[in-house]
Amino acid sequence: MVEQWPLKPLVQGSSPCWGTNFMNLKSKNIIITGGANGIGKALADRFLKESPNSIHLIDINPDVLHVAESIDGKAHIVDVANEEQFTITLNQIIQDVGSIDLFCSNAGIEGHGTLDASNSIWDKNWQINVMSHIYASRIIIPHMLENKNGYFLLTVSAAGLLNMPGAMPYATTKHAALGLAENLSIMYGNQGIKVSALCPQLVDTNMLKTSKLPPEDHPLMIDGILTTEQVADYTVQGINDEKFLILPHENVLRYIQGKTYDYDKWIEGIRKQVVKLK
Ligand SMILES: NC(=O)c1ccc[n+]([C@@H]2O[C@H](COP(=O)([O-])OP(=O)(O)OC[C@H]3O[C@@H](n4cnc5c(N)ncnc54)[C@H](O)[C@@H]3O)[C@@H](O)[C@H]2O)c1
Repeated sequence: MVEQWPLKPLVQGSSPCWGTNFMNLKSKNIIITGGANGIGKALADRFLKESPNSIHLIDINPDVLHVAESIDGKAHIVDVANEEQFTITLNQIIQDVGSIDLFCSNAGIEGHGTLDASNSIWDKNWQINVMSHIYASRIIIPHMLENKNGYFLLTVSAAGLLNMPGAMPYATTKHAALGLAENLSIMYGNQGIKVSALCPQLVDTNMLKTSKLPPEDHPLMIDGILTTEQVADYTVQGINDEKFLILPHENVLRYIQGKTYDYDKWIEGIRKQVVKLK
């Protein structure tokens, strides 16, 4: 019988080294969604240092115009949850620049609450945190397959790996986004498409400013709040190395190893943290 899923780690000890600097961004055409603020804006600033050919920023917030101007890029005021609008924009960019080398599907929102979260919050989180990646994939992946090359980066979150008590819509949709990233990589990796999932914990952006921070002794706070510039540096390194999981907070790797080693114990540990927070 052929073993369909690897039951044991294929490589033990340190992670496999596939080499470095596979993907460099010089002369590449890049699109970033959610580029008006936070991580998306920092990615644009950081990519600029790599001398790309073009950077297109897509955001629902008109501030994207100023950000694009500051990096000599192009701005598109678009709601990524609106498939029709988003598709027209992506096709237009492809037509203008010829080929897209790196697509950063980064726009996201944070839906708080548990069972009290309304259907409208769930719908918004589902549309922006999941469906927008699918709308983009439907245009960008076939285009990259034609070029037999391309990089699709999804900004997920450590919440997509380790959950997030008190933010059920956010954590659930980020798990879905991670599942989608894995599936894209599995389905199209053999045909030259690289996929990464960027999964930070806390990052100093507007999203964080509108959230209630956990107490100082909470693991999230102990691991620290990264600046958007730090996250952008890690992301460029992760893209260079073509790593599927880009983990700017290094402890996240240890946490997910602990989670998969003993799921029940992990859930028990998180429950204790929730009790402490009450
Ligand atoms: N800040 C954190 O602690 C943190 C941690 C992990 C993951 N993330 C993820 O990083 C990504 C970027 O978030 P951020 O922290 O930079 O927040 P942010 O709020 O600073 O930036 C998000 C950007 O997305 C844009 N956006 C939101 N909805 C949109 C829509 N429908 N169409 C187009 N643009 C839209 C916003 O206008 C904004 O410019 C998100 O996917 C978020 O889930 C953030």
